[in-house]
Amino acid sequence: MKGLILSGGKGTRLRPLTFTRAKQLMPIANKPVLFRVIEAIRDAGITEIGIVIGDTGEEIRQAVGPGDRWGVNVTYIPQSAPLGLAHAVKISQDFLGDERFVMFLGDNVIQGGISPLIRQFAGSNWNSQIVLTEVDEPQHYGVAELDEHQRIKRLVEKPRVPPSNLALVGIYMFDHNIFTAVNAIRPSWRNELEITDAIQWLVEHDYQVHPYIHRGWWIDTGKSSDMLAANDRVLAEIGYGVYGYVDRDSQVDHLVLVEAGAEIINSTVRGPSVIGEHSRIVNSYVGPFTSIYHHTVIENSEIEHSIVLDNSRIRDVPGRIQDSIIGREVEITHSPIKPKAYKLTLGDNSKVGLL
Ligand code: DAU
Repeated sequence: MKGLILSGGKGTRLRPLTFTRAKQLMPIANKPVLFRVIEAIRDAGITEIGIVIGDTGEEIRQAVGPGDRWGVNVTYIPQSAPLGLAHAVKISQDFLGDERFVMFLGDNVIQGGISPLIRQFAGSNWNSQIVLTEVDEPQHYGVAELDEHQRIKRLVEKPRVPPSNLALVGIYMFDHNIFTAVNAIRPSWRNELEITDAIQWLVEHDYQVHPYIHRGWWIDTGKSSDMLAANDRVLAEIGYGVYGYVDRDSQVDHLVLVEAGAEIINSTVRGPSVIGEHSRIVNSYVGPFTSIYHHTVIENSEIEHSIVLDNSRIRDVPGRIQDSIIGREVEITHSPIKPKAYKLTLGDNSKVGLL
């Protein structure tokens, strides 16, 4: 089998954090979501992976490279514009050939990986397998309606009145018949070739599409209004350990990952949390559910339940920072210079809650 990761599109939903970045490269528990997707596919035994890229393609190529870091071969497939998930399949036909493949959206994270799913599909004669899960607001997703035998009756993309609460998770398995389907369908009201319509076409033409109901957690980080919730989930399940330096005056509990080159000096770090490579925590408190990315400094400050990206500086902040997402190369300091006032330089669409 081959793997196809969709990493094109624009990251507008996560503004301002993805103004200049591909949303698939946003780190969750200090690892870009796209890297988690590559690992999930590799762990299922697939080594030939195509990545569909768009506007942010150059950045994705730079971050991922040829794939040798994961023991896989990556082929980049440029998409001229985000014309839909089925369009992405269409332009990948040369890469995929006649092989069965798994398509994974580059901004999705799923609990437990996909190895059992791939095994099930590889050993079956199904033409496709889709993954469904119960959600609270199905109108934001592709939605499936099943019949009394748990077979797919109908699939609709972001329906105003959802026929069920079963959303399509961004993981799909197909054989070559999907190319006939994507060539047969027409663009939707949002002018995209919808993969949901292509799968509906398979169902209507008597191909076998098997619905698998996923019971663990699943996060569409591209949509998640709450990156912090995604971070909480993943932090609770990473491998912990100290690979950096912790001095004798610090307390670091056992649910913390201190990455190589990180330094914890005279500080308390409570888990689950992660302190990234070459970051320094000095005279500070880092509370549970916090991800500090690489080359960041937290000094004389307190922070918890937050994400701080790389190369930022948080120094001498008088109150505790909580429930916050802080971008790259941000500086937050206490300023003694008069007049005593908040002095802010914030990007577009920033949100600040002052005391
Ligand atoms: O996350 C699950 C949902 O993903 C499904 O429930 C929906 O049925 C499915 O249509 C999709 O909906 P989204 O609105 O979340 O898709 P989005 O536009 O965010 O794109 C998902 C990923 O695919 C993202 O990493 C960008 C990439 N993409 C998207 C389009 C439209 C491409 O590479 N090319 C494209 O043309």
